[in-house]
Amino acid sequence: MKIISTIDELRDQLRGQLRTAFVPTMGNLHEGHLSLMRLARRHGDPVVASIFVNRLQFGPNEDFDKYPRTFQADVEKLEKEGVYVLFAPTEKDLYPEPQEYRVLPPNDLGNILEGEFRPSMFPGVCTVVTKLFSCVQPRVAVFGKKDYQQLMIIRNMARQLAMPTEIIGAETFRAGDGLALSSRNGYLSTEERAEAPFLYQTLNHVAEQTRAGLSSTPADLLALEQDAMDRLAARGWKPDYVSIRKRMNLQPPTRDEYLAGEQLVVLTAAKLGNTRLIDNLEI
Ligand code: PAF
Repeated sequence: MKIISTIDELRDQLRGQLRTAFVPTMGNLHEGHLSLMRLARRHGDPVVASIFVNRLQFGPNEDFDKYPRTFQADVEKLEKEGVYVLFAPTEKDLYPEPQEYRVLPPNDLGNILEGEFRPSMFPGVCTVVTKLFSCVQPRVAVFGKKDYQQLMIIRNMARQLAMPTEIIGAETFRAGDGLALSSRNGYLSTEERAEAPFLYQTLNHVAEQTRAGLSSTPADLLALEQDAMDRLAARGWKPDYVSIRKRMNLQPPTRDEYLAGEQLVVLTAAKLGNTRLIDNLEI
């Protein structure tokens, strides 16, 4: 595997490649990331990964400084997956001058759910992903469904800006007890790690109740969301949201849409101790 840090070297290395499959990451790679590399391999060749902890997508009081950086271990994992190039720029390599041109998602998608609680997140993600795409020029790029809203925003961005890159969504990789794998799981204490699968259990509960409402008494979706927030709070979680949304645009369904069988997804973000976890489940 070639490890490349500058944009010029990367362009030289990838010149003429028409089927590149790209997996952007922020490192601290786990099985979830490796499953993205395997999916990428099925959709293109060569596979290119990037590791870059993107300051632009972190708010001033978020975990940019303590975000886990495990470069050597990451390199070994990517080598085993047969990744051809790892692009690992420094901040100076990727942002040699202040990044004043930004790519902003539309308000109705960018300012809801995660965007409401982390306003820097999606402008930062759209900007860095656009820049990484411009460097790598991939034919396909793979993103996990764990970051459901991120995946939708990037997919819409690529379509609206006519980027020549197909966006592929990968299923969330879960531990045996249901917890979605995430680099931030490493912040959890032993007791918190034991409690953490309750988030996914809560999503399953909401999904079951939502589905049950289609065959018997229609569920009150807002009441279901509130009930889920209460269940989490009762066990010491601090939920930001539990929200049932339409898969097509992440807006809340009307009652008629729900009863007509609109495709839904339930999304959540909640803090356990100091660690903020997100997860979602297609209903
Ligand atoms: O999902 C992530 O790891 C990041 O948001 C991404 C897409 C690599 C952009 O920094």
